Amino acid sequence: MDYRGLIARAMEVKQSAYAPYSHFRVGAALLTKNGKIFTGCNVENVSYSATNCAERTAVYKAISEGEREFAAIAVNGDNDDYLPPCGVCRQVLAEFCDMETFEVILANNEEDYQIVTLDRLLPGAFSVDNLKSGDAF
Ligand code: THU
Repeated sequence: MDYRGLIARAMEVKQSAYAPYSHFRVGAALLTKNGKIFTGCNVENVSYSATNCAERTAVYKAISEGEREFAAIAVNGDNDDYLPPCGVCRQVLAEFCDMETFEVILANNEEDYQIVTLDRLLPGAFSVDNLKSGDAF
């Protein structure tokens, strides 16, 4: 899979980040299984806790447009190295994405990236099965 176009969109939307407190901009580009791309940036808040990460912005935009099936997400931050999604974003991705096949692309740029599946980022995820059974593992 050639993810350069998806990574380019994540890098581009990073320019829209609202990050006056951390000065750390993040962009994400979410690919649906039918080939559409939804982008998102981080949107900070003076309360700090109301801040929304780039990944969740992209997911919520896609969900609110009726999309439910996702293949991959590219993430690009203002750091020098691969930016892994935070724990809350991993859990939100786990709500909608297949753990074994959904690909998270940690991108420094179009040529330099790592691909990991969601199950590697969030092993033992809290899932709907845990609502029914007492066994976590
Ligand atoms: N941030 C993201 O948007 N995505 C991540 O995966 C990690 C962190 C944002 C949240 C906050 O606006 C800033 O980066 C610093 O934590």
